[in-house]
Amino acid sequence: MSHWEEFYNTHLPPTDFEDNRSLLKEFCERHNKLQNRIVLVTSGGTTVPLEHNTVRFVDNFSAGTRGSTSAEYFLEHDYAVIFMYRAKSLEPFTRHLTGQQFFDMLDITDNGQSTSITVKPDSVDVFAPILAKYKQARESQMILYVNFNTVADYLWLLRAACECLAAFEERALLYLAAAVSDFYVPQDMMPAHKIQSGQGAPTISLQFVPKMLAPLASLWVPHAFVVSFKLETDENLLITKARDSLYKYNHTLVIANILQTRKHRVVFVTPTMSYEVHLSREQALQGLEIEEPIVADLVKRHSEYINGASTNRQ
Ligand code: PMT
Repeated sequence: MSHWEEFYNTHLPPTDFEDNRSLLKEFCERHNKLQNRIVLVTSGGTTVPLEHNTVRFVDNFSAGTRGSTSAEYFLEHDYAVIFMYRAKSLEPFTRHLTGQQFFDMLDITDNGQSTSITVKPDSVDVFAPILAKYKQARESQMILYVNFNTVADYLWLLRAACECLAAFEERALLYLAAAVSDFYVPQDMMPAHKIQSGQGAPTISLQFVPKMLAPLASLWVPHAFVVSFKLETDENLLITKARDSLYKYNHTLVIANILQTRKHRVVFVTPTMSYEVHLSREQALQGLEIEEPIVADLVKRHSEYINGASTNRQ
């Protein structure tokens, strides 16, 4: 049995798994009938619990900005979007109104008989376009939200999503921006209860999480356009690691980014070339988001990929 199969055999799915699987199935069947293009956007970091009754866990860095922002741009390009995200990380649309921002936009009045809440006049220009786009995406059922916490939750959902996406063949795009743990504590090696500090500092032995890109690209969605992300902190390793990943997993494209510069520079790495997508200082100051050119470039490449596949079939 391969390492990845063993993982599914030894880790239970999350409790809401069957509900999410049904939602994924229904969403995909509907959009496949309509011959729509579809993208799976994964977003946010996975956790690795250290106890079954989890008090402590190890987390992977990701606020969910890349994924939630990109999901909005994919919707603008008429893609149906499965947004698979870490619970409580940034979400499309609401990401624009984080913290107190939303409450600060509202007014409350009470005339003794009734209470009403309104958007402050000077906030309408900010709030209205976001709300309109959100409503449009929800009412036209172009977006499905599914969330995860742990790396095991993520891997179960990833496989279930792929099972549904396989029918789209080349029309499916996978945009794997989530920061997925490489190490974890297997369920059978985890204590049931909170690790007690009175027993001394614990020694925690982490095991490798199987790289699911391998079965994903070769078995689950072999015809899809698969984009993985590579996060590094050392510029000298970035392109080499991205290339290694492409050779190893044989998928379509890696988008490489450095932690500190990820919001204004990424490098697209394909088997034959690499090129930079970046924002100038002025563009960044004007509030442009790098995900806009990233998604525009991918949509163009995806179209060429679909056209190439249909020409090959003729
Ligand atoms: O959300 P932000 O704050 O905006 O940050 C965005 C980001 C920096 C997190 C994002 O742009 C990014 O780089 N995401 C990928 C980070 C990452 O997990 O890289 P990795 O080297 O661990 O994994 C590379 C690829 O392998 C990933 O696409 C992942 O889906 C895949 N993987 C990882 C682990 C695993 N066990 N199986 C996998 O298939």
